[in-house]
Amino acid sequence: MNNSVDWSAVKADFPVLQRRIDGERLVYLDSANTSQKPNAVIDAMADFMRHGYGPINRSAYRLAGEATDAFEGARAKVRTFINAPHAHEVVFTKNATESSNLIAASWGRANLNRGDVVVLTHMEHHANIVPWHMLAAERGIELRWIPLTDDGELDLSNLGSILDGAKALSFTAMSNVLGTITPVTALCRAAHDAGAVAIVDACQFVPHNVTDVQAWDADFVTFSSHKMVGPSGIGVMWGREALLDAMPPFLGGGNMIADVKLDGFTCAELPAKFEAGTPPIVEAVGLGAAVDYLTNIGMANVRRHEMHLTSYALDTLTERYGDDITIHGPRNPEVRGAVLSFAFRGIHPHDISQVLDEKNVCVRAGHHCAKPLMRLLGANATARASFYIYNDESDADALADALDGASDIFGF
Ligand code: ALA
Repeated sequence: MNNSVDWSAVKADFPVLQRRIDGERLVYLDSANTSQKPNAVIDAMADFMRHGYGPINRSAYRLAGEATDAFEGARAKVRTFINAPHAHEVVFTKNATESSNLIAASWGRANLNRGDVVVLTHMEHHANIVPWHMLAAERGIELRWIPLTDDGELDLSNLGSILDGAKALSFTAMSNVLGTITPVTALCRAAHDAGAVAIVDACQFVPHNVTDVQAWDADFVTFSSHKMVGPSGIGVMWGREALLDAMPPFLGGGNMIADVKLDGFTCAELPAKFEAGTPPIVEAVGLGAAVDYLTNIGMANVRRHEMHLTSYALDTLTERYGDDITIHGPRNPEVRGAVLSFAFRGIHPHDISQVLDEKNVCVRAGHHCAKPLMRLLGANATARASFYIYNDESDADALADALDGASDIFGF
């Protein structure tokens, strides 16, 4: 791992950021939504499609063997990246949302019955709420919620009673709205003390931090490739081997079977058991390249860079706009990632986003797929700027400057 990173060289690795629109540079501040892709990922996928593409796990010829090695090589890289005990515990899905659905549908149906309790938090996004609502409608399970403090952290003062009798605690490692980084290890321990499994939605965490699923002592961890400079179309569901072995399959079809007869089927070993059909082969190669790219930068460096940018952006916006801007979430960068959701001078977030777009500043406006949290914040929508490895102080300055334009247009 490098200890000093040339962040301008990192920025130069992302071709879309070289683009000019109306002669001006692009300021991409929507990485919590989806991240941009470096040449290393684009080239790895294109090279594989040009020279190495073939089926995996199915055919005996050389090309197929090489494709299988590339696919499984990507799985091994992901295992190392999150420090999972075994590569076969790393299941490739479509995205983090499918990973959550897999856990709720497979582990949930096998282990939860009427009256059983699943604990969530008020800062979850829809991917970690709706699958449990669906199971509640089907099975009559009870959902309990960990509330938030005024500062946008989890309020753990009643955690013991909330977890009492629970079968699962499913929570985000980092809020996509507030930026809050949650105490994952303590929450996993509390879940286990209560006899519950710990399910960590890490799709905002893994791209930005060192991830160690064993240090967390988690049972399941979910995340997406597209938020970590990899391609869309592939996500990860990591689970402990013993839990995965005991779970029924999620989707049925080819690749996930050991045998099929007229009167039934038997499942393949892990991870194929949970990977029905032709998987995202090219995307896995791209994810492997993304893991290599981030590993070369060093995730501790990524975290340091983003903590600095978060502090800089918080300071710049508050010094410049004072009470005219409300930035949600914790002020302390130690417990917050590089996500800034804000309200500005009573201007509707969609209008803010549109005006910023005129300056090529890309932010997300809306409910951020977290409607329950937005209701608690008393807002239908916020504008949200989210930073990543290819952003720098000039991007935070561009955001602050472009907000002036919103004031001019809306007359504040
Ligand atoms: N969860 C994604 C976001 O925050 C969709 O934008």
